[in-house]
Amino acid sequence: MSRTLGVLISGRGSNLKAIIDAIQQHRLDASIAVVISNRVDAPGLDYAVRAGIETLFLSHKVYPSREEYDRALVDALKRRRVELVCLAGFMRLLSPVFVDAYPNRILNIHPSLLPKYRGLQPQQQALDDGATESGATVHFVNNDLDSGPVVMQQSVPVLAGDTAQTLASRILAVEHRLYPEAITKVLQQSR
Ligand code: GRF
Repeated sequence: MSRTLGVLISGRGSNLKAIIDAIQQHRLDASIAVVISNRVDAPGLDYAVRAGIETLFLSHKVYPSREEYDRALVDALKRRRVELVCLAGFMRLLSPVFVDAYPNRILNIHPSLLPKYRGLQPQQQALDDGATESGATVHFVNNDLDSGPVVMQQSVPVLAGDTAQTLASRILAVEHRLYPEAITKVLQQSR
């Protein structure tokens, strides 16, 4: 039986689009119950609307604490029977309230070969470090930033003359293939 995903975004949503495409092309046996954004103007919401997927805007700004915001997210996801949460460019740290509500059921994609270059601007971090390769990682989310168990990763060369932007777009192309594959792997392991 097809499994129920919830996808959380804050912006462009190209990884959300890659997940939608994989479902529509039967490369990923799942359905997306809801796409939640903490930004009302996240361009990625359009991908969900066009695919007929419910969208929800939940502003972190109207909640008095991170925990109360996370409780609202969890409520919205649980009400829609979401089994696996996929963070796709969701620019919020999750508190234990969220992480403990979905133990080993939250995935994130990060544009580096974790544990290298955690946090913000990992492509620039790779360049500053003189790395000859970087890549993309799909990992489980735990209570430490970009530190949960790795599900899948793939490397990408760093080329002479790369800027953070050129490296980011080379990594992004890999992300779009990797994320649906990693979701499939997790769903198969948790049958
Ligand atoms: C991606 O590079 C992802 O790895 C990182 O944030 C970016 C989101 O891009 N976590 P998009 O919104 O999916 O296009």
